[in-house]
Amino acid sequence: MQTLSLTGANGLSEILIETGLLGHAGAEISKVFSPSRVHIVTDSTVASLYLDALARQFTLPVSTSVIPAGEEHKRLSTVEGIYHDMLAAGFTRKDLVIALGGGVVGDITGFAAATLLRGVSLCQIPTTLLAQVDSSVGGKTGVDLAEGKNLVGAFYQPRLVLIDPAVLSTLPDATFADGMAEVVKYGYIANPAILDMVSQPDYKAEIEKIIYECVKIKRDVVAIDEHDTGLRMILNFGHTVGHAVEKLGNYTELTHGQAVAIGMVAALRLGAMRGDPDLSPALISLLQQLGLPTALTYDREAIYGALLSDKKKFGGTVNFILVREPGRAEITPIEAETLHEYILKL
Ligand code: NAD
Ligand code: GLY
Repeated sequence: MQTLSLTGANGLSEILIETGLLGHAGAEISKVFSPSRVHIVTDSTVASLYLDALARQFTLPVSTSVIPAGEEHKRLSTVEGIYHDMLAAGFTRKDLVIALGGGVVGDITGFAAATLLRGVSLCQIPTTLLAQVDSSVGGKTGVDLAEGKNLVGAFYQPRLVLIDPAVLSTLPDATFADGMAEVVKYGYIANPAILDMVSQPDYKAEIEKIIYECVKIKRDVVAIDEHDTGLRMILNFGHTVGHAVEKLGNYTELTHGQAVAIGMVAALRLGAMRGDPDLSPALISLLQQLGLPTALTYDREAIYGALLSDKKKFGGTVNFILVREPGRAEITPIEAETLHEYILKL
């Protein structure tokens, strides 16, 4: 088993990574928590695959909230339903809530844990690759509003994160590929060895090691900048244009991972326009190999408009993440008008 730890504003967060970990999750949880009861939040798809396997490991009373799968349910009314389920089951401040699922379940449950009774213990058991390498670690929680994604939330570290790569075997290929976009992101921003690993035809055999390397980067970044005021922005490589195209596709034409893939290519092209070496051909070839899109098909003016409405704009500049060489990312403030010119040329 590989372990990593992180100390955040609300205490220690331990991260365990092991193939088959879900099979003894109950034992790992009981080493860390002493609750009187456990509440598991999951979605309808994950419930049918893994809920019983987890719930039967507890001798304590277990209650559940099974939410419908899908980003459209990442909203306040779902969180309210979870509060009611927890309170109806007799949940108190010394009890434990577990998020069993992808990033949607993780973000919603994390927000419920951060806010119910002003904060209760949280364990994340991520079941998508994206959630294992990204969303379950680092304490960003929240929900979407009609005005945009992730607009309501809290920083709230899970006390324990249990990552079992074995559960990825049931993911649809496209959902697995979504997570690979974030994996590639880590390669470009911090560790090019990840790019070598995922370029191998049998890289899935090494997925546990790949996940570990990604989580280590995320842990290191969050340890320095938990609240996203500086270094943590490098985790948004590919996300500036990515969020814009995700929005232009009404969050249905492209998944988050697909949008990030397209956004990373755009970011490298933009870097080349500013005089950096053009790293985009190698990225395009890798993303295609992984089953991810690379072409920017939306109207450039519309992309610029969507990009400006994103929350990462500060005054007249946008903090853009440029990669100078694989493994070296820089947060680069770009004047909105200059960015406009670059986007039109993409
Ligand atoms: P998701 O949670 O919607 O999961 C994708 C689909 O996979 C769902 O239908 C789910 O039911 C299914 N699924 C999950 N695990 C499965 C398994 N093991 N086998 C089969 N099917 C399975 O999507 P996601 O890509 O995991 O997460 C996306 C969300 O994460 C977005 O809301 C995004 O904003 C958020 N996010 C948060 C952070 C953060 O730091 N908090 C970071 C990145 C993304
Ligand atoms: N996924 C970006 C972050 O956690 O900051």
